[in-house]
Amino acid sequence: MRLTLSVIKADVGSVGGHTKPSSRMIATVEGEVAKAICNGLLIDGFICHTGDDIAIIMTHTRGEGSSDVHQLAWKSFLAATSVAKTSGLYGAGQDLLADAPSGNIRGAGPGVAELSFDHSLSGVRPAESFMVFAADKCGPGAYNLPLYLAFADPMYCAGLMLPPMIKGFRFHVIDMDNTAGDSLLELDAPADSYDIAALLRDNERFGIDRIISRTHGEVVVAVSAQRLHAIAGKYTGKDDPVAIVRNQGIFPAPEEIISPFAKAHFVGGDARGSHVMPLMPVPLNTPVTGMYCLPIVSCVGFSIDREGRFAESYTDFFDNPAWDEVRRRAQRKAIEMRSQGWSGAAMLPYSELEYGGFRDTVSGLLKRFRLRDDRRPEAAE
Ligand code: 13P
Ligand code: 13P
Ligand code: MG
Ligand code: MG
Ligand code: MG
Repeated sequence: MRLTLSVIKADVGSVGGHTKPSSRMIATVEGEVAKAICNGLLIDGFICHTGDDIAIIMTHTRGEGSSDVHQLAWKSFLAATSVAKTSGLYGAGQDLLADAPSGNIRGAGPGVAELSFDHSLSGVRPAESFMVFAADKCGPGAYNLPLYLAFADPMYCAGLMLPPMIKGFRFHVIDMDNTAGDSLLELDAPADSYDIAALLRDNERFGIDRIISRTHGEVVVAVSAQRLHAIAGKYTGKDDPVAIVRNQGIFPAPEEIISPFAKAHFVGGDARGSHVMPLMPVPLNTPVTGMYCLPIVSCVGFSIDREGRFAESYTDFFDNPAWDEVRRRAQRKAIEMRSQGWSGAAMLPYSELEYGGFRDTVSGLLKRFRLRDDRRPEAAE
């Protein structure tokens, strides 16, 4: 069977500020997804949240970009929006940027990551397991560094030296600043790994769209790399990307994929989407309530049975005491960075504030600047 994994995620409202969706919102989305499983549109589905973003994780045979599957997600988010509105929650419908988009909702606000494969539980994939990363309060390139390290650097993934992976992986890099459409470049690791790094270092402009095994031609990673402000034309919250990563066998093992997150690397995001702060790995369904508003990422793992079902049980990868140490490191890094307040590297550069109120403040001040000579009394006469 040709199986598709679709993860569609949106921030459509939250309790007490931008912290988490309400349980009624989650129950509403679960209800819509349960109906879609019942009527045969989906094989299976799982709903979770990271901060105030709700993720719908689905298996089906409709293929990527399926109008029916995308419309189901949109309808579910609309239903959750109306619950959020009724309850007076913050940011109701925030990420639904288009009015009734028809068909595929990529580009309409929600984050979309999808990949497909032949699911036979034989050959190179006698077992199928995958992970879903979901991040809140951070920019679209948050996975650039960890995925590069997992799929292109044997210092992090020794498995790259094994025969099924030694030919490396093909990275599809997306230029998220191109508003004309998805603009992609394919580069091969390890041969092009310096070129890949040269692009991926810019987390705000370039992202990983997908990664493919060069030995088997199988898609292993799909990321929802898109910029919300490129879509909406104005600041609408951070992009908060999701990623699907298949693991084990011909792909890296889970520990090789998650170990780069031990860095708690700095990303753009945090309060008002305008700071540079460490990405903290957190358990599923964690609200954003800590000091500051740290960018957070969750990671859930599943196995898929012969029929394409997966949600009967799951693994919460960052819900382990080992990650407490990383969370403490993230908090220490955050305190250090915030001790310099608004200055320089602690906040995002001017271009990234472009559509925010900070930019309006600066634009107003820019109009009041005068050349030194023009300020002399005689020059004014
Ligand atoms: P197990 O022996 O538990 O299967 O672990 C194997 C492994 O390769 C871990 O990366
Ligand atoms: P969200 O994208 O989660 O709404 O966060 C926006 C923000 O500005 C946090 O301060
Ligand atoms: Mg929000
Ligand atoms: Mg959010
Ligand atoms: Mg957001």
